[in-house]
Amino acid sequence: MKSLRIAAVSDLHVLPDSRDDLLLAAIKDRVEAIDPDVFIVAGDTSDHLSVVSRSLGLLRVENCENFYVAGNHDIWFEQDGGPGSLEKYSRILGEVCAEQRFHHLPDAPIILEDTAFVGSIGWYDYSFRREEMAIPIESYEGKEHKGAVWYDLFRVDWRFTDREATDLFNRRIQYDIDSLPDRTERIVYVSHHLPFRELTVYKNRFPWDFHSAFMGATSTGELLKSENRVVLTISGHSHVRTRATINGITALTVPLGYGRPAEEDLQEFARSAVAEIRVDEERVEVKGFIEGDICDGLEYVSSRG
Ligand SMILES: [Fe+2]
Ligand SMILES: [Fe+2]
Repeated sequence: MKSLRIAAVSDLHVLPDSRDDLLLAAIKDRVEAIDPDVFIVAGDTSDHLSVVSRSLGLLRVENCENFYVAGNHDIWFEQDGGPGSLEKYSRILGEVCAEQRFHHLPDAPIILEDTAFVGSIGWYDYSFRREEMAIPIESYEGKEHKGAVWYDLFRVDWRFTDREATDLFNRRIQYDIDSLPDRTERIVYVSHHLPFRELTVYKNRFPWDFHSAFMGATSTGELLKSENRVVLTISGHSHVRTRATINGITALTVPLGYGRPAEEDLQEFARSAVAEIRVDEERVEVKGFIEGDICDGLEYVSSRG
């Protein structure tokens, strides 16, 4: 195989009303400088479909594959009678991606030469919780404990429990892997939620570690570990960038987050945000990967507030 170059980023949390156009342009510039075979955006662009659509249109890079995986914010139901979470995930986001010539990986894997890209939103089943915090399981199920709230509580309206959602998505990932053609020698898994607990940052304090329970599911990682063609996982969701090697799998999180720098620092910010990865016959190489929270110390900007 020829080596594949991948550029990846997630969690742009794009502001409405064109306010992030310069940021999106800086990200696109950075991706074009990498000149990848594949550009991946791993979810949490916006809870508004119109913003997701417009952003993907501004981000799309010519001469490479453009892949998207929905994040939990992207499937938040729209107020005022708009579509619900399941409809967004299973149908509308795929259509929005197609309009902007992105491929929504959860709808179907893509195979480039002998490397398959399999995608899922992933989900959480509280297996990342810290038992020593002694928070009752009912608090995780209710997404609320002593004033700390996991906001999916108010904005995800499908009828699955979190464990059912995790199981459903795991089954779909397994189906996608089992259906790959024989020529597939390598699998890259792209998700929003985390497949490995090792990617989660714990701070030994509440409510941070309560929220960590909503980062991902160990069962997804176990599934990937049992498939020896998986060489790389790329995820978002946690706004702290981490990297781990698990059973020979290179695992990354590539978030940007809610911070915004001064305009003159956007290029450098985009450079920190977009991960550059090379997959070749023998190994996975990640160039100059920036770990941690790249929004630390920056002005926090959120469309929610
Ligand atoms: Fe996010
Ligand atoms: Fe997220």
